[in-house]
Amino acid sequence: MSSKNVILTGFMGTGKSAVGQALARRLGYRFVDSDALIEEQVGKTVAEIFSSAGEATFRELERAVSAQLASEKSVVIATGGRLMLDPQNARQLGSSGRVFCLTASPDEILKRLRTEEGKRPLLDVADPRTRIKELLAERATGYGQFAQIDTDDKSVEEVAREIERIMKANIIEVRYPHGRYNVLIGSGLLENLRDLVGIDGPMAVITDSNVGPLYQELVSDGLVITMPAGEKFKTLATVNELYSKLLAAGLDRQGTVIALGGGVVGDVAGFAAATYMRGVNFVQAPTSLLAMVDASVGAKTGVDLPEGKNLVGSFKQPEAVLADLETLRTLPDVEFSSGMAEVIKSGIIDDAGLFELIESQAEKLTSGKDAGVDLLAEIVGRSVEVKRKIVEEDPFEKGRRAVLNLGHTFGHAVEQVSGYTVRHGEAVAMGMVAAAHLSAAMGYCDPGLEPRIAVLLQRTSLPVRIPGQWTSEEIYAAMASDKKRAAGRLRFILVRDIGDVLVADHVAENAVLETLCHCGAA
Ligand SMILES: NC(=O)c1ccc[n+]([C@@H]2O[C@H](COP(=O)([O-])OP(=O)(O)OC[C@H]3O[C@@H](n4cnc5c(N)ncnc54)[C@H](O)[C@@H]3O)[C@@H](O)[C@H]2O)c1
Ligand SMILES: [Zn+2]
Repeated sequence: MSSKNVILTGFMGTGKSAVGQALARRLGYRFVDSDALIEEQVGKTVAEIFSSAGEATFRELERAVSAQLASEKSVVIATGGRLMLDPQNARQLGSSGRVFCLTASPDEILKRLRTEEGKRPLLDVADPRTRIKELLAERATGYGQFAQIDTDDKSVEEVAREIERIMKANIIEVRYPHGRYNVLIGSGLLENLRDLVGIDGPMAVITDSNVGPLYQELVSDGLVITMPAGEKFKTLATVNELYSKLLAAGLDRQGTVIALGGGVVGDVAGFAAATYMRGVNFVQAPTSLLAMVDASVGAKTGVDLPEGKNLVGSFKQPEAVLADLETLRTLPDVEFSSGMAEVIKSGIIDDAGLFELIESQAEKLTSGKDAGVDLLAEIVGRSVEVKRKIVEEDPFEKGRRAVLNLGHTFGHAVEQVSGYTVRHGEAVAMGMVAAAHLSAAMGYCDPGLEPRIAVLLQRTSLPVRIPGQWTSEEIYAAMASDKKRAAGRLRFILVRDIGDVLVADHVAENAVLETLCHCGAA
């Protein structure tokens, strides 16, 4: 985490000081209360400054303190209720870190202020509740520019933990020809999705029947559309239903579609978002490891046809990707392992350090329940980084992006001959071992690389041998038919070393057949 400051703003009674102190403890930061700092510097209380020198003088003092604090690092700053409503302060202090506005309902504010010591002159009126409401309405636009953290029904520690998690999230910026978006990786992010992404208008959450019941409440109390879970519903019929439900709910072009789920939900919801009313805003909230490290970055969306997978689709850049690692706790272990195949793939393609990290921790990486958030954050972050570099070089899949298909030429063929009973990640695991064998056979790499990759895949609970019920000729034919449809060449990604791959377009048929036999095919 950087040493960025945390600036807390909000109405009196929202807990800025108490939360600020708790947060500073958690982050190992210094805590400063702007009012207390002014009182210390001037040697008078805020009330005394107001009555002796007037409000204008106090606002000047606030500006001076803002300038001073903006030059410091690793400070949690609880600001006076109006300090951040001054545009100059907001700009200056805001640029030194992240600003959070604590909010609470008028009743809650009143309750908290009544139990507090000391005088609150603003509330010395006949009807303080109405006064609070008026002031909140007056300041709504001012406070509204910052990330909102609701404090109703939460303890000070709970609010501090929420902000701590956001501060610790890893943010990776992905650029594409006419824009950019952030991938946020961390835990406890879903609760604050709207603010983290900065969604103002209406939103529609699209999820599936497994993920919705677990997480939809964290994300939205509004429109949620649930599709049945599974690849077999990644179809135009599902998209059609989504269109109808979005229309019925009145979502317009100002709306945002949130994909909450694995790669299937991401692909279907993304395609719907790309095409509904010629395109509405789209946010990915991936909940499977595969969707976090692969499907949600790179803007490819689409659906399957009866003739084959991913045959209809579109590029749709998201506004943001929010990968909440906590969701991996409920991901079935087989799905977690499937995602690990793509993580290991990222290491082999472009990050030898990631591959070595997994080698040193493989036993923890067989389940989202055991891995621990720090390790997950690291492997997801590094995988996204690999994908980011590659898709930035090749946003529309014309060249370099091919390397992401390491293990996939073999893998897709195995998926296909199995009638998709072999999972994608499992097929890719087998395919990567085959690619390493082929690479060694063609003299590109050391023969020791194949067993090294195979052992790591096995340690993360992935299969590495192609089941012997299919012949190498059958599998080869599946590869060839796949390519015929794509009107392309049979292309293999070969490995020179961990972290170093190449694209090969001319590989002899007999070398491929020999590899298939060696890897288990009959
Ligand atoms: N667009 C791309 O660039 C891209 C890249 C790779 C893969 N994909 C696509 O992604 C899809 C595969 O993604 P996937 O592996 O995530 O499949 P998936 O979406 O089917 O999810 C796998 C299963 O896990 C469940 N699940 C997901 N998150 C969960 C959670 N946190 N807790 C409990 N259950 C959870 C789902 O309901 C589903 O049953 C394929 O359709 C593939 O084509 C797309
Ligand atoms: Zn894949």
